[in-house]
Amino acid sequence: MSEPDPNLLRGRFDQPTSGDMQRYSTSLAIDLRMLDEDIDGSVAHATMLGEVGILDPGEAERLCAGLEEVRGELASGAWVPGDEHEDVHMAVEARLIELLGDLGKKLHTARSRNDQVATDVRLWLKRRLGELDAALAELVNTLLDRVESDGKTLLPGYTHLQRGQPILLGHHLLAHAWPLVRDRERLVDATRRLDRSPLGACAMAGTPHPIDRASTAEAMGFAGVADNAMDAVAARDHEQEVAAACAICMTHLSRMAEELVLWSSSEFAFVRLGEDYATGSSIMPQKRNPDAAELVRGKSSRVCGDLMALLHLVKALPLAYNRDLQEDREPLFDAVETTLASVGIMAGMWRTLELSRERFEKALEGDFSLATELADLLVERGVAFREAHEVVGRIVRWCEDQGSDLGALTPEAAKRFHPRFPDDLGPWLDPRAAAERRTSLGGTAWVEVERQVRVLRQGMG
Ligand code: ARG
Repeated sequence: MSEPDPNLLRGRFDQPTSGDMQRYSTSLAIDLRMLDEDIDGSVAHATMLGEVGILDPGEAERLCAGLEEVRGELASGAWVPGDEHEDVHMAVEARLIELLGDLGKKLHTARSRNDQVATDVRLWLKRRLGELDAALAELVNTLLDRVESDGKTLLPGYTHLQRGQPILLGHHLLAHAWPLVRDRERLVDATRRLDRSPLGACAMAGTPHPIDRASTAEAMGFAGVADNAMDAVAARDHEQEVAAACAICMTHLSRMAEELVLWSSSEFAFVRLGEDYATGSSIMPQKRNPDAAELVRGKSSRVCGDLMALLHLVKALPLAYNRDLQEDREPLFDAVETTLASVGIMAGMWRTLELSRERFEKALEGDFSLATELADLLVERGVAFREAHEVVGRIVRWCEDQGSDLGALTPEAAKRFHPRFPDDLGPWLDPRAAAERRTSLGGTAWVEVERQVRVLRQGMG
């Protein structure tokens, strides 16, 4: 069998490209991750060429069988292409020609690598985004499981990382779940827009051959075809959109990760990470480090960088295809794969960590997180909120001056600040009662937490 012909594209040249140029320009290594998509596209194309009579039915069948053979060889490593192939498309075609001889040379009729690569990437995205969607649904469900098992635990809700008001842990966990639901929506929406086959756009002008683009689109599982051949090969906004959705999702995971880092510190000790997600130190034997969470936080920066790379890659390119576009896959695949892996790690951490109800609730002792409750009490008794805010502010100051907290506030003392305070402050100085009174839509009361869990469970299917 002859060596793969590195000169398939070099009819007009006397010399082969230099070794340096071959190594510099090949995208084979990363392209091989979309080998299946490339073969699937070629099989759809060959089948269609047979259907419309550009090829004999027998020729189309033999091309498809040959393509499957190349898929098997490449997947198993039985054939290892070298840098002389510019990309996966050229490698597959060269090997096909080796296997089938002249028949292999007919496959590229009415097609260009420009529409091929655009097709492969869209197919790859459709498949991976399906996996990402399922992983996100699982993470949301894991959080909802936690809400159901531990959601009644009280903790301070924070603003500025200062204790604010007592809330239920379920309320806090749901505040992490909702953004993930929107991440799913963003990805579904991006998938809907990219679900158009570019195949048959050829270089950018279409073809005089009687191809059937709708048939290849359907065979590959696309919802339709990209209407304009030039746009079909030049557009990368769907890649930017997916990377943006991934970057946004990673910022959500990163915020969650940051809280797990804080919460697992000895200072907070709200959670203890499962051993399977905690790491040790090479020198300090006692360490139980939150590396998984830190890596999610760190990797989120990379995915934001991936988005920047894709935006900048495209912004000044003239229409239509330019080789710059080959640089899209590293950031794009990285964005999707890193997000997919991070979602999985996050779900694992939430599944296996232990929550310390005691530590959460202890954080409510000896502070002023019931101050808003006292102000709301005065409001219920007819005092204007601004006035109530000021009165309670003075009470806080008074407590601080004598080194105590709101727990030490007697009704008599309170009445000295405002006559409308009631004789019994007990129900108003109870953090659980304060949380449970917040029944407004979206509030922290358990009825609202339960309602949201029901809504979210339905959407998680
Ligand atoms: N390897 C190229 C890429 O990834 C495929 C398209 C090449 N097209 C071209 N006209 N040189 O973008």
